[in-house]
Amino acid sequence: MKQFPLLAAAACMTVASLWAAPAEAQFAKPADAIKYRQAALTLMASHFGRMQPVVKGQAPYDAEQIKANVQLLNTLAELPWAGFGPGTEGGEALPEVWSDAAGFAQKRDALKENMAKLQVAADSGDLQKVRAAFGDVGASCKSCHDSFRKKK
Ligand code: HEC
Repeated sequence: MKQFPLLAAAACMTVASLWAAPAEAQFAKPADAIKYRQAALTLMASHFGRMQPVVKGQAPYDAEQIKANVQLLNTLAELPWAGFGPGTEGGEALPEVWSDAAGFAQKRDALKENMAKLQVAADSGDLQKVRAAFGDVGASCKSCHDSFRKKK
């Protein structure tokens, strides 16, 4: 309860009961959820960013390596969203994540769709296709950050 000094006890009870819902049960407190989603986003960014030299033609294209990395990326792209449950406002997330939950979900789904397309491209072994799909994924990261992440 320490985290919510301004909330009435009743509101805390509501948050606590939401917190007990199965989807949120893995986090004992909001700070844990924030840490979890930031860690997941950091891992996703690392595995995405390491493809950039290949896409830019600055490193050789190893189709098998890219394919394996994109498989991992598709798994990582599933993770952050569970950390944005009710009552977890904070970090660098804007309040709109919760007040415009439908808009946030749309950006999340767009990312997942583009990740799946990147997988098809990586599986094809065609660098041109990987390059195009990589650009689309990057655009979905930016598009969500523009609306839902605090500016540095
Ligand atoms: C659906 C919205 C959304 C999408 C899509 C998205 N992000 Fe984010 N991202 C956020 C929000 C919101 C935060 C702030 C989270 C926080 O601080 O609690 C964030 C934070 C981050 C962070 C900082 C993590 C930290 O340590 O604080 C990185 C890095 C990041 N995103 C990379 C990416 C990359 C790379 C992609 C695309 C592959 C991506 N994000 C796609 C919403 C999104």
